[in-house]
Amino acid sequence: FNQQDFIKKIAKVELHLHIEGSLEPELMFKLAKRNDITLPYASVEDLRKAYQFNNLQEFLDLYYQGAEVLQTEQDFFDLAWAYFETCHRDNVLHTEIFFDPQTHTERGIAIYTVINGLVRAKQQAFTQFGITCEYIMCFLRHLSQDSAIETLEAAKPYLKHIIGVGLDSSEQGHPPEKFQQVFAMAKQLGLQRVAHAGEEGPAANVANAWLLLDVSRIDHGVRCLEDEVLVKELAAAQMPLTVCPFSNVKLKVVEHLSEHPLPKMLQKGLAVTINSDDPAYFGGYLLDNLQACSETFAWSPLQIAQLCQNAVAASYASEQRKSELS
Ligand code: HPA
Ligand code: ZN
Repeated sequence: FNQQDFIKKIAKVELHLHIEGSLEPELMFKLAKRNDITLPYASVEDLRKAYQFNNLQEFLDLYYQGAEVLQTEQDFFDLAWAYFETCHRDNVLHTEIFFDPQTHTERGIAIYTVINGLVRAKQQAFTQFGITCEYIMCFLRHLSQDSAIETLEAAKPYLKHIIGVGLDSSEQGHPPEKFQQVFAMAKQLGLQRVAHAGEEGPAANVANAWLLLDVSRIDHGVRCLEDEVLVKELAAAQMPLTVCPFSNVKLKVVEHLSEHPLPKMLQKGLAVTINSDDPAYFGGYLLDNLQACSETFAWSPLQIAQLCQNAVAASYASEQRKSELS
């Protein structure tokens, strides 16, 4: 029995993936050239060498800089298409993708340029690979709530392409309560809600995202472990947590994969899913995360299958699609 092969072949679902974080250095250079932009790196190797971070903010600085090469609808198509090709290669059959419109609208790129490119790639991923996908529009929490509300207003003509809203970027100093109003508006519009919480910020952010933003998934959530009562409540409610092991190592949430609290989270009965977050920056895609964790924590095939099933259950796919993925 080959466990790595088993993990490759099992049907997988990804619930925490920033499309801007799937921009590989090779594509970044290609788009820079196409758009006549000079990157502050001599080569792909040079850029890769810069991917060493001491915290979330150091990563975000490079991630926003990298996103500047994305200018045209075709660029957004090419970005998403490259990710769908890796999904096809790795047997990721359903994926719920974050995108950050403000990263682009702040640079004068129209929101429809972003959405049209992403939607065209999604349609082709379905016809060519049978991969299904949903888009989740994230608000940047280092910007104001007014800017988030403006973004939601600008997205109104495209809501049929957006399953929900999320909250990402710098967690420190930008707690969930800052975005209560825009999340209430999103709920009114019938959108699903998720939020990054308890990645670098305290367990209180997990509780408040749940309580005040009324989210149906928590992104990361690893620091919930600092509040035992909260852990019991999250487990009892089977609130899905989209955990990103490679991300937590690269951003020094934990020092080494072997010190990751995943085994503890599973032991506490939390509804854990495994995800890649920003695979181009963190050293691997969903399959790589699953394979490394399985080695490090000596997971059985049954445990792997359970984690994959958790992601199916936590997804916003239709009941019909969920049964196909199970
Ligand atoms: N955390 C917060 N914001 C982000 C992340 C993350 O892991 N990735 C991309 N934007
Ligand atoms: Zn993330």
